[in-house]
Amino acid sequence: MSDAAQRIRTLRSEIAAHNEAYFIHDEPLVPDVTYDELVRELRLLEGEHPELSDAESPSTRVGAHVSELFSPVSHSSAMLSLDNAFDVDELRAWADRVLKSIDVKDDVIFSVEPKIDGLALSIRYVDSQLVQAATRGDGRTGEDVTANVLTICNVPHVLPGLVVNGTVEVRGEVFLAKADFARLNEQQQSSGAKQFANPRNAAAGSLRQKDSLITAQRPLSFLAYQLVVDEAPADLAEIASHAQTLEQLATWGFLVAPESQTLTGVEAMVTRTDWFEEHRHDLAYDIDGVVVKLDNLALRRTLGSTSRAPRWAIARKLPPEEQSTRLIAIEVSVGRTGRVTPYAVLEPVTVAGSLVAMATLHNQDQVALKDVRPGDLVIIRKAGDVIPEVVGAVATTGERSAPWSFPQQCPDCGHALVRSEGESDTYCINRSCPAQILQQIIHFASRSAMDIEGLGEQRVAQLLDEGLITDVADLFTLDAERIAKLDGMGDLSATGLLVAITGSKTRPLSRLLVGLGIRHVGPVAARALANRFQSSTSLAAATVDELAAVDGVGPVIADSLLRYLREPESQYRFQQLEAAGLALVEPVEAWDVAQTLAGKAVVVTGSVDGFSRDGAEAAILARGGTSPSSVSKKTFCVVVGEAPGATKISKAEDLNIPLVPGSSFRALLETGEASLS
Ligand code: IVH
Repeated sequence: MSDAAQRIRTLRSEIAAHNEAYFIHDEPLVPDVTYDELVRELRLLEGEHPELSDAESPSTRVGAHVSELFSPVSHSSAMLSLDNAFDVDELRAWADRVLKSIDVKDDVIFSVEPKIDGLALSIRYVDSQLVQAATRGDGRTGEDVTANVLTICNVPHVLPGLVVNGTVEVRGEVFLAKADFARLNEQQQSSGAKQFANPRNAAAGSLRQKDSLITAQRPLSFLAYQLVVDEAPADLAEIASHAQTLEQLATWGFLVAPESQTLTGVEAMVTRTDWFEEHRHDLAYDIDGVVVKLDNLALRRTLGSTSRAPRWAIARKLPPEEQSTRLIAIEVSVGRTGRVTPYAVLEPVTVAGSLVAMATLHNQDQVALKDVRPGDLVIIRKAGDVIPEVVGAVATTGERSAPWSFPQQCPDCGHALVRSEGESDTYCINRSCPAQILQQIIHFASRSAMDIEGLGEQRVAQLLDEGLITDVADLFTLDAERIAKLDGMGDLSATGLLVAITGSKTRPLSRLLVGLGIRHVGPVAARALANRFQSSTSLAAATVDELAAVDGVGPVIADSLLRYLREPESQYRFQQLEAAGLALVEPVEAWDVAQTLAGKAVVVTGSVDGFSRDGAEAAILARGGTSPSSVSKKTFCVVVGEAPGATKISKAEDLNIPLVPGSSFRALLETGEASLS
């Protein structure tokens, strides 16, 4: 057998195995990008060797054979897949081909919409009543999931308005919104169940349940993007474009992508696809691409389809957020609070546009749950600005190393590590652990705290190694001559560093409180406390109730702060800081609050722990946001506190606006991000 024939055979069987894992077992073996590469290679080879073509090749099919869990359903017309454009050049090449075949110049109308990373679903309505819902399956035959689809809240059971006589099929995507996915995984975790790797897997696992009661508990959504009009009655004959289709679907009560737009000409179309690349993380759902379609339905019919995909549409793929690479080792790092976090040391790989060589593994349980071991091929995920994480190991048949075990001793100071009952984190409880002190001082000097320019990780490590400091307070009594002698320093840099340190003495009390890294005391609480008490002396004299009564504080923070302030070590630190000339007061309007919510409308419903209604609103306004009393299309997110209003929540759900639990309000204020994934 020739090399090409051999390779084609291998690729076909590998792709078939991946199809089965992805479509039937909802447990992909490799990231999408690897799968796409295999299909691409197979198509190329088959193109070069037409003599080896085979009607059964996975390159000509869509999805996988149907499983036996559900009854088969024959689709009235094939549920096709989409061809991919992996970059803008391929997208333009597709558009050129389309323009040529339909013989129009550049004034053709495209519709551009998100490619939602979920599962395709076709819902059949007869005389306006929902009668059947089926998955895509192999494109011709799908699985009957009617009972499960009836539990999805935003799927209309009846098409309202005029009764549409005859059969209508609405096709779209079943998915889990990012916020719903985060909530589902939180629930899974608290009930001790396995967490889902990503929203798509969670949606697939939820839709393809034998027991609809389980599906009913999963916050699935359906987004419609296609109306099968072939057999449709005359009532719908006027629909001539995709835009009109979406309008009709929305009138019936289906969710359609609010980001869908029609654009005239190739340039406007390409620009709109760029918009999706830039804003993908702002959307309420995960997308893996942008779908470009001809808007005009008559032109679509002229172009037609191949056995696999329509010629009138294409998916511009976005850079994958998951990649596979080799796990070299698992190590642990010690943070400023003593928390010991395991992380993966990886063969560097580019994920979502940046090179990743390390990824977090969160804690001991996560390593065990994911069962990743040095030497494994693992899947790495990096979405937006979040820290890269290890999703899991790629299934392998070869020999693996022994399961990794969490160290018993701190890798830095050798102290025994402690994991308390019911806690997922492990701590080094040695207060003099050099790794913790290093991290505490780095945090103290960081931009979000005392903002001391030139005092980064390396410099702090050097000062500690040379014995020039042992605590943050020592920074303020550093000797210019001694630091000038440090490696790579010199007089000029030493002076620069000292000027920066001296300059930080006038920082407001709130920044100092942040810098001290007191448990639970983040920037929001620190500012509220400093504003209320104005000086470190009156803060130290306050009772726990007085502290807890401050807006945005509450008993947990108050208790933690009080404990800190009463420790002899902290009192000594404050004395030293005062002696060194630190201000330790909060000048009015001292804190330039990061405008994390600039231009964002955040609706609060119910009461949020630690905030009065006005306090929550003030916190949003201080960050550049607005806090309207009702939900609209323009709402950025809805914060759901205790005893929330049902109308606001259902309106937010209808409009696909993220819901943020009250417990995450502080995180929202700090990061400006509504998605918890
Ligand atoms: S159109 C014949 N539009 O992507 C038209 N598909 O890779 C085919 N998908 O099977 C589908 N968002 O599951 C279309 N806005 C969108 C989509 C979309 C996600 C999925 C769908 C399809 C797959 C093809």
